Amino acid sequence: MLLVILLVLISVIQGDCEQDFKLQQVLILSRHNVRTPLSKNLANFTPKSWPSWKEKKSGYLTAKGALLEGFMGEYFKQWLQNEGLLDDACPNENSFFVYANTAQRTMASAYAFVDKAFPNCDIKIHNSSVTTDPIFNPVIHNRSAIFRQEAIEEMQTLLKSLHLNNSYRDLEDILDYKQSEYCLLEGKCDFITDKNKIFVNVGLKPNLEGPLKISKSVIDSFIMENYEGFPLKEVAWGQLINTKQWDLVLELSKGYHSTIFNTTLIARDLARPLLKYMRDILVNKHHRTTLLMGHDANIYTVLKALDIMPYSLKNQYEMTPAGGKLVFQRWVDNISGQGYVKIDYVYQATEQMRQGKSLSLKNPPEFTPLKLGGCKYVNGLCPWDEFVQLLDNLMEA
Ligand SMILES: *[C@@H]1O[C@H](CO)[C@@H](O)[C@H](O)[C@H]1NC(C)=O
Ligand SMILES: *[C@@H]1O[C@H](CO)[C@@H](O)[C@H](O)[C@H]1NC(C)=O
Ligand SMILES: *[C@@H]1O[C@H](CO)[C@@H](O)[C@H](O)[C@H]1NC(C)=O
Ligand SMILES: *[C@@H]1O[C@H](CO)[C@@H](O)[C@H](O)[C@H]1NC(C)=O
Ligand SMILES: *[C@@H]1O[C@H](CO)[C@@H](O)[C@H](O)[C@H]1NC(C)=O
Repeated sequence: MLLVILLVLISVIQGDCEQDFKLQQVLILSRHNVRTPLSKNLANFTPKSWPSWKEKKSGYLTAKGALLEGFMGEYFKQWLQNEGLLDDACPNENSFFVYANTAQRTMASAYAFVDKAFPNCDIKIHNSSVTTDPIFNPVIHNRSAIFRQEAIEEMQTLLKSLHLNNSYRDLEDILDYKQSEYCLLEGKCDFITDKNKIFVNVGLKPNLEGPLKISKSVIDSFIMENYEGFPLKEVAWGQLINTKQWDLVLELSKGYHSTIFNTTLIARDLARPLLKYMRDILVNKHHRTTLLMGHDANIYTVLKALDIMPYSLKNQYEMTPAGGKLVFQRWVDNISGQGYVKIDYVYQATEQMRQGKSLSLKNPPEFTPLKLGGCKYVNGLCPWDEFVQLLDNLMEA
């Protein structure tokens, strides 16, 4: 026994001495930052009046969102310089490459990041020449009937596994849902017993219709109101005060996103174009650092397609926070030459966002390490070649 401990100790010490890790390449897959609520029907779901946003268009990056994304830009510049991937000079496209989805909120988030990270550097933000970029568009590609049937079954199973009664009750109270126009006109007044309908159609995003979708839409507004910094008595009309209350209603939002994005067939099908693009950057192109600016749909489906182990993000209510980033890092042991992948979820805590706290190496965003379910880890590290193999396997339909 003692001998075993001694041997382990020696190998750990030797391991430490014989390794000299250098960060070689970084790919950041980001969600846009704080935006106005997406749903245009919020007024139907409550007799109460919603807070008024300065930005009137739905789904637009707000000034606060741009500020927060700028903080991320400043932080990442410092981090990448500190790791030796960038120097003080303006980066060129070999050292820093940016590609954003064509939506206003993703383009504007990318500009906000770059303007603060590299002021006066004239960095080009690449984007698709077609309005709807297929790389980021989270729609169903597979045209086979069997795919559709199996995908719906997976979604139904997931939907049935959710236990949301308490969350639904709570949200009905917050909204005073029984007095909403939707209930009064449509006669659909009970979140718990009203039906959720699943939609899986080629060329469209998987979707739900019913109480879970309604819940997700109103909660999305609560979350954004909170980040935006509305007075607490206006955020969910002052009815989400503590973490326990937020967590309870957030179950609904998580349940919705899990149903539409967190099943294997759907996630692999939706994420394939983006994963192909990422693989190309990591394996063929030699941009040292890359920023990809997309949506929560991209992050959810990439996480599931890559079989990332369950995680939780401390000091955050969301699973895929606004402005949050999956940071794929290629580390190389300069002594053995062996490469490894490390993946962190880097995001701003809810309070960092609400309070508009700037970020630096001394006041960093949160880092949560993620683990690939399909990788055989060696001393806690996933070999780069295995990661590439996992990506390759996902390229085949
Ligand atoms: C995307 O890039 C093209 C140039 O290729 C540009 O003309 C277009 O305005 C850009 N789209 C957006 C949404 O910025
Ligand atoms: C949730 O409520 C429905 C309708 O009242 C009921 O049928 C179901 O058993 C409840 N689920 C749980 C887990 O309590
Ligand atoms: C996806 O579902 C798994 C359970 O299968 C769960 O542990 C995980 O948290 C979910 N991921 C996200 C991002 O919601
Ligand atoms: C890697 O190691 C070699 C010698 O073993 C050394 O000359 C070189 O500077 C190291 N490179 C880095 C980036 O640390
Ligand atoms: C479509 O889905 C079916 C069933 O999952 C699968 O066998 C097939 O390979 C998929 N085809 C494409 C083009 O993705």
